[in-house]
Amino acid sequence: MIVEPKVRGFICTTAHPEGCKESIKRQIEYVKRHGQKEGPKKVLIIGASTGYGLASRISLAYTYGAATLGVMYEKPAKENRTATPGYYNTEALEEFLHQDGYYGESINGDAFSREVKEMTIAKIKEDLGQVDMVIYSLAAPRRTDEDGVTYSSVLKTTSVPYTNKSLDLRNNQISEVTVPAATEEEEIATVKVMGGEDWALWIDALKDAGVLSEGVITIAYSYIGPKLTYPIYYEGTIGKAKEDLYQTSVLLNETLKDLQGKAYISVNKALVTQASAAIPVVPLYISILYKVMKEQQLHEGCIEQMDRLFFENLDHLEEELDEQQRIRMDDYEMLPEVQEKVAEAWDYVTTENLSEYADIKGYWEEFYHMFGFHYDNIDYTKDVEL
Ligand code: NAI
Repeated sequence: MIVEPKVRGFICTTAHPEGCKESIKRQIEYVKRHGQKEGPKKVLIIGASTGYGLASRISLAYTYGAATLGVMYEKPAKENRTATPGYYNTEALEEFLHQDGYYGESINGDAFSREVKEMTIAKIKEDLGQVDMVIYSLAAPRRTDEDGVTYSSVLKTTSVPYTNKSLDLRNNQISEVTVPAATEEEEIATVKVMGGEDWALWIDALKDAGVLSEGVITIAYSYIGPKLTYPIYYEGTIGKAKEDLYQTSVLLNETLKDLQGKAYISVNKALVTQASAAIPVVPLYISILYKVMKEQQLHEGCIEQMDRLFFENLDHLEEELDEQQRIRMDDYEMLPEVQEKVAEAWDYVTTENLSEYADIKGYWEEFYHMFGFHYDNIDYTKDVEL
């Protein structure tokens, strides 16, 4: 079948298998350029098929030769429907890993469920014995609890409605959006989905099963961002969930003490991913940020961020922590010279001058790349197996 992108707002409903493979290949090549060193050997990545989790998996496998077990929630192809990009990414990555002689297996199912936790533990016992690192990189819209109740996360403020500029991804127009305030129930639901409870359930279950090795490290990903996006992010419902994730890291440090283990939050850079495209205001911020950071030669994508974390910083993490003991991979994003330029551009940007102030082309290139499209060495006119 010939596969073309079908973009609906901030989502693309098709994915190109060969393009996804190309994206994996490029990420592997990026990591391979620096050779290998000693480090984690057996890693569990929860949320391993796209974005930061996928880049973590690639970086850890090709920097340390680590065996990686990935958990994700992706759909295979069905009749004329393509699979989700995370499905193709995982298939391609496993193929590369096996060719290169590395262990790489995946569990496709709902990470929030007890069943998937049990399947993962059984798989670790069978294939790896124990893991020495657990990456928690879930970005999910909803979570169904053990008792059958479904919680949906919302991207709203936690105080009053908030109005600001936003990029309408359907037509590249800048318009004003008003983000409503969440109800208390919605706030609680967002914390349920994107907060730390499930991370703790994973670590507790893994520890109880005896599959965490001495000195285990677990890292979950978070975001802070500039004052500009505070009402919608840092102080919004998602920010509340991230605060809960942080508090969980404090608790997990206690849980892991007897194993001499550590739990960290890594605050990462704002990037185009399926998760971030859905947040109001943020895509405009990201496209301005890309322009500024590219001009200052500070731009990084998921793989550059995760490779800097795992290749450069991992063996001296403690020296890199901020006053709240968080890893700050958003260090370049938050530089005053970057943020001043972004704030200036934010005031001036309109639909008419969008490409002058924002890297709208770069935003869309990365967006299409996520779904395996717009790679110049792929022939998209050719039939592909779904
Ligand atoms: P993403 O949407 O690219 O990846 C989400 C991953 O979670 C995928 O592998 C998906 O299959 C998996 N997943 C979702 N629901 C699942 C479920 N029920 N069971 C199993 N797997 C499931 O998201 P992204 O952006 O890489 O986000 C990962 C983490 O990084 C999140 O915590 C996010 O808040 C954080 N982060 C993202 C930033 C960004 O700008 N994109 C910036 C800083 C932090």
